This record gives sequence, C-alpha cells and structure tokens, in this order.
Amino acid sequence: MTIQAPKLITFKQQVEENLQKSIPAEVEPVLREAMLYSLAAGGKRIRPLLVAATIDALGGDLTKGLAFASAIEMVHTYSLIHDDLPAMDDDDFRRGKPTSHRVYGEATAILAGDALLTQAFAVLSADNAGNSAAVKLALVELLASSAGPLGMVGGQQADILAEKQAVKLPDLVSIHARKTGALLKASVLAGAHIGGATEEQFAGLATFAAHIGVAFQICDDILDVVGDENKLGKKTGADLKLNKSTYPALLTLEGAKKALEAEYQQALEALLDLQLQSDLLLLLAEEIIRRDN
Ligand code: IPE
Ligand code: IPE
Ligand code: MG
Ligand code: MG
Ligand code: MG
Repeated sequence: MTIQAPKLITFKQQVEENLQKSIPAEVEPVLREAMLYSLAAGGKRIRPLLVAATIDALGGDLTKGLAFASAIEMVHTYSLIHDDLPAMDDDDFRRGKPTSHRVYGEATAILAGDALLTQAFAVLSADNAGNSAAVKLALVELLASSAGPLGMVGGQQADILAEKQAVKLPDLVSIHARKTGALLKASVLAGAHIGGATEEQFAGLATFAAHIGVAFQICDDILDVVGDENKLGKKTGADLKLNKSTYPALLTLEGAKKALEAEYQQALEALLDLQLQSDLLLLLAEEIIRRDN
C-alpha cells in the first residue's frame, strides 16, 4: 500500500513517533520489548489514516486526532498478537516477522497484548491536543465499545465459533463487521467527533465506515486465498486450514469479489452524498479494496 498524499504521510510519521513514545521507559524490560516489537513491526496504519482523513474531510485540525489514532493502533496491534496465538489462529508470521509468541513465548505475548490494550486508554486519556472534555469522553467510549464484547472481541468469539461450521451470509457479515469493521468504523467516527461533524454528517460517515469496514475484511479473506505472502507479511491459506467462515469459502472467489465491490459502492454512495472535501477518504477507501497487502 502506497499512500502518496503529503498530509497522510506526515500524519503517519507523527503516529509512528507517538507509538514509540507511548511505552514508558520504566515498563518491565521484556514486556516493553515485546510491546515495541509488535508496534514497530510496521503495518499499514490504516486506522490512524482513517482518523486523519475524516478530520480533514470536515476541515478540522489533524493533530487533534493523533492521540486517538495512536491508541486505536495499539488496540489493533494487541488484537493481532492475540489473534495469532496458538489458541486462536495459531500463526507464525505477522507484519513480515515471527509472531510475538514465537519470539517471546505465549505468556509474554498475552501480557504484551493486555498491556497494549490498557496503555491505549492511558494514551487517549492523556491527550492534550485541545479536544474538549466532552469529545475526549466520547472517544474513550468509542474505543471501548468498538474494541470490546460488542465489537472486536465479540467478533473474534463469533469467528472462532464459526470454524468448522457453515454460517449463513448475514451471520458472516455480522462477524466481519464486529471483528474487523468495528475498529475501522471507530476510526472514522473518532474523526467525526474531533472534526465536529453535524448529526447528518455523523450518520453518513457511519454508513460509509460500516461498508468500508466489512470490505476490508472481505479483502483480507480474498488475499488469504490469492495474496502474495511476501507482500502480506503473513502466511496465506490459513483460513482454509482452520476451516474459517470467509467470503470466498461461502460465496467462491468470484462471489467474494462481487461482494467487495458492492460494499465499496455503498460506501462511496454514502460518502458522496455528504459533499465533504473527501479526497483523502476516497483515496483510503480505494486502497482498502484494491490493496495487495
Ligand atoms: C489485519 O489488519 C487483520 C484484520 C483486521 C483483517 P491489517 O491488514 O490492518 O494489518 P496491519 O496493521 O497492516 O498489519
Ligand atoms: C483478524 O481477522 C481480526 C482481528 C480482530 C485481529 P483475521 O484472523 O482474518 O486476520 P489475519 O488474517 O490473521 O490478519
Ligand atoms: Mg482471526
Ligand atoms: Mg488471523
Ligand atoms: Mg485473515
């Protein structure tokens, strides 16, 4: 994924610096190393970029989104560490490197995930970029609800239960919307809070983000079948091995590609209806469905 927009390149650099600074020097050294190992392994930073692009679409100040962007990337990174554990997807590679548990062992990987999740809320609460107390509280609520049992964690539970079991399409949409869509949607809604969206803009952006969120996981499912391991930085064929419920498994590869395009079109429709300065959001939406990593 190559994002050329200067505003997004700068924002991403600031997030990288923020992430490095987010783990205090006093943290127990092994835990700190494991946290930074996964944070620094790279990753597309698509969630932070969505925060920035949404603020930009509303004409807001991007620096007000740095704390939330860093916090949600920490939550996302924790979700990947736990997703890769032997008890879950049992994967050996992530972001082009051996997974956390392969390097540090399961106990430390679990704890590094726990620590990233809790530290994310510390980072968000310490935000002093000028967001009002009301906006900050809304952001804390948003991060908690999107990551928690009604969001990502609930989706991960449903994903595990759906292994070796034929689920119907509405159930699969619900799994994808929660396990992956929730954090992507929260990134856009955070930008909406920070950028001072009207109720109508908030609703339109929520519809846009819901479709982009599901599209992101459909693309992930497709890449697990046809992707290049070197570009992805993780093993392909993992879903088939675990008999995961995925779009290609349920609808065939062609059906999955059609579903991806349909989600993308619905996302675009909702966004264009709002008539915002949405060039950066459009850029990211296209990257999300055309990406090869
Ligand atoms: C991978 O997320 C896991 C899913 C939610 C599909 P990303 O594709 O955003 O992974 P990174 O952050 O770029 O490594
Ligand atoms: C992961 O979905 C969603 C998370 C909440 C981490 P996947 O299990 O398909 O993600 P990958 O393919 O391992 O990155
Ligand atoms: Mg998984
Ligand atoms: Mg996985
Ligand atoms: Mg996957």
